[in-house]
Amino acid sequence: MTSRLLDRLEQLQAAIGQEPEPELSGRLTRMVGLTLECVGCPMVVGDRCVIEGQGAGSVEAEVVGFEEDKVYLMPLAAIEGLKPGARVIPLSSASRVPVGPQMLGRVLNGAGEPLDAKGPLQAEARVPLSGDIINPLHRAPVRESMDVGIRAINSLLTVGQGQRLGLFAGSGVGKSMLLGMMTRFTDADITIVGLIGERGREVKEFIEDILGDEGLARSVVVASPADDSPLMRLRAAMLTTRIAEYYRDQGKRVLLLMDSLTRYAQAQREIALAVGEPPATKGYPPSVFAKLPQLVERTGNGRPGGGSITAFYTVLTEGDDQQDPIADAARAILDGHIVLSRRLAEEGHYPAIDVEASISRVMPQVTQPDHFSRAQRFKQVYSRYQQARDLISVGAYVKGSDPETDFAIQHIANMRQFLQQELNESAPLAESIEQLLAVVPERRSPDRVRSAAPGAAADRSNG
Ligand SMILES: Nc1ncnc2c1ncn2[C@@H]1O[C@H](COP(=O)(O)OP(=O)(O)OP(=O)(O)O)[C@@H](O)[C@H]1O
Ligand SMILES: [Mg+2]
Repeated sequence: MTSRLLDRLEQLQAAIGQEPEPELSGRLTRMVGLTLECVGCPMVVGDRCVIEGQGAGSVEAEVVGFEEDKVYLMPLAAIEGLKPGARVIPLSSASRVPVGPQMLGRVLNGAGEPLDAKGPLQAEARVPLSGDIINPLHRAPVRESMDVGIRAINSLLTVGQGQRLGLFAGSGVGKSMLLGMMTRFTDADITIVGLIGERGREVKEFIEDILGDEGLARSVVVASPADDSPLMRLRAAMLTTRIAEYYRDQGKRVLLLMDSLTRYAQAQREIALAVGEPPATKGYPPSVFAKLPQLVERTGNGRPGGGSITAFYTVLTEGDDQQDPIADAARAILDGHIVLSRRLAEEGHYPAIDVEASISRVMPQVTQPDHFSRAQRFKQVYSRYQQARDLISVGAYVKGSDPETDFAIQHIANMRQFLQQELNESAPLAESIEQLLAVVPERRSPDRVRSAAPGAAADRSNG
């Protein structure tokens, strides 16, 4: 409501001293499902308008397509009280959103209006929802590491400032908890959290229980639950990104956490199908796959010497199927993926990060060689144990038959413990690396391994 009043005010200010122009308006001719059709008003795709409803209820909508002289509109909020022939009045300005340091600690909806009870938002400026596109050649490369406060990630999947990662997991495996821990423990200057299309109850839980006062004080949360219109959910994802861009442009190191990219894609699917785009891959129309990089490419590093946006996007892998089209598309456009495993979660191993299936593509560029090689060593030893796991558990593995496996058996308990982290335990980057160096010794020469394997050390760990 406030945004509409401000728009009107801007229009009036602009109109002062100008020749009065006739006010254009169109008519609503059809409404099917979520799509509205309007005639008699020239508008372009992406334009905004207001549809006058009965009484006080008018609805803001956006042009999402057209056919001959008909324009297709998608409402921003729930539609009530619209009748055939209702007036459609175009809004002249592009959508603007409030930004400013006052946003810290606030919870906003997709239109940038506060959802919390902390009063109106005193924004410093109102900026267009779509930020400037930075020429990829002008962006600073990813060269420095970012502390996310999670031991397994800091040590084995080190994240770079300006990197974009996917957090792939089925439902209930611990995505939200992990994002919450990052918010509380990261050393980023500010965290922007986008809760897109999740259940409404979860939004409250995430803010009150997972983030807590400590996490919220250093974040801005944008929430658009599943019952918001699809357009509002898309806007919320864009607003999350826009706020992150605002802080990046101020030179801040921003951590952006979006839960979830899949729900963003689904919102775009709803819109595309409603205006008649044919579905292609598993019910997703092609425009969905065009929208994903448009959102994700806006994060990352700014110009050299400026701030950065390091981003995590959660991706739902339905039924833990890694081949979901959105998961596939996300894997292609992101610079790394962290996979959460249901098996680990069921074992009570949290965070349930599957270190074998996860990768941070920028890790070699942001770590010291000894750290990187030790992380590789950790993964090799860990994998060796996993390969022999079934044999070992049924007692079919004969000690001494493979020195690497013996070595893995000897160290696996410590390695597992190293990977686990309590909800309220912070693991800073330097400490995580130190612990990594301590938990898995460097590769030993083959004879030393052989002589040690059947001996006392292996027996102790097996016993
Ligand atoms: N680090 C942890 N320590 C202990 N328990 C955890 C941890 N992470 C997750 N859990 C358990 O897993 C449950 C689900 O976690 P969470 O809500 O983070 O999953 P999710 O992947 O976000 O689920 P959804 O797909 O429903 O959004 C939690 O309620 C909690 O019981
Ligand atoms: Mg969740």
